Amino acid sequence: MNKLLTTMFALAVACVTVSAQAQTVSGKVEEGAKKTAMCVGCHGILGYQASFPEIHKVPMIAGQSATYISSALNAYKTGDRKHPTMRAIADTLTEQDIADLAAYYSVQGLKEGGAPPAAAARAPSERVQALIGRDAANTCITCHGANFNTPNDGTVPKLAGQHADYLFVALKSYKTERNANLGRSNGVMAGQAKKFTNAELKELAKYISSLPGELKTVPEPVIHRSAAK
Ligand code: HEC
Ligand code: HEC
Repeated sequence: MNKLLTTMFALAVACVTVSAQAQTVSGKVEEGAKKTAMCVGCHGILGYQASFPEIHKVPMIAGQSATYISSALNAYKTGDRKHPTMRAIADTLTEQDIADLAAYYSVQGLKEGGAPPAAAARAPSERVQALIGRDAANTCITCHGANFNTPNDGTVPKLAGQHADYLFVALKSYKTERNANLGRSNGVMAGQAKKFTNAELKELAKYISSLPGELKTVPEPVIHRSAAK
């Protein structure tokens, strides 16, 4: 009797463990490395320009945090982020693919000790400082970190050194509503971006882009499938 109870208890515990595992897919760097064929044509080319729906450099994703990469890819998948090409691409990825790719890109090109010290950020001009501190309760650095490279939460991106034209397009996208090809529905950043004119967002983007950070583009060979059969 006692033995039976113990067995039943063990089974119940096993079931809980299995269902908990089903919800958290963990990514593997080596697996992610095998899944980048669909990404390298844009994210593996230095300075690659996107031309639709707006012209700007493709974001650097190497060195970005895995949690943020997953969260961004899921946002394209669900349509919370409307960028048409990234939506089409994210649509083809499974939860496991996303976890593996996020793990891979989060460490790609990252060097131990490569992170800039928190104090390295060049002090902004007075004008930019005022923009950063406009929302006194929640300044940009509350979430993105004093050097814009140490987010306070996994779902918050590193920004330091990111391409200025991309940062500007991303910031504007949080203000865009009711557009089929443009826009991001993240409520936190919508609340932030809507406090600024586009000219001010451009100034913020330019400053943040000038800071030392860990984000980079690591050139990767594009594997061309041979046309000849
Ligand atoms: C045709 C070019 C292209 C390809 C191919 C591509 N991307 Fe992108 N990616 C972009 C562009 C452009 C953006 C910016 C979209 C936006 O404005 O939201 C982007 C955004 C992203 C972001 C969000 C970055 C951020 O800072 O928020 C991630 C993560 C990402 N891509 C990962 C991938 C992965 C992984 C693959 C391969 C499975 C891939 N991309 C394939 C062009 C591409
Ligand atoms: C309360 C926390 C918080 C504050 C304050 C905040 N951010 Fe963000 N920021 C986030 C989060 C979370 C995201 C990711 C949103 C998403 O998934 O689209 C983000 C995304 C961004 C992005 C998009 C980056 C990319 O790679 O696509 C930019 C640019 C940005 N923030 C700049 C700023 C600036 C500039 C300020 C100050 C005016 C600011 N943020 C204030 C939390 C915050």
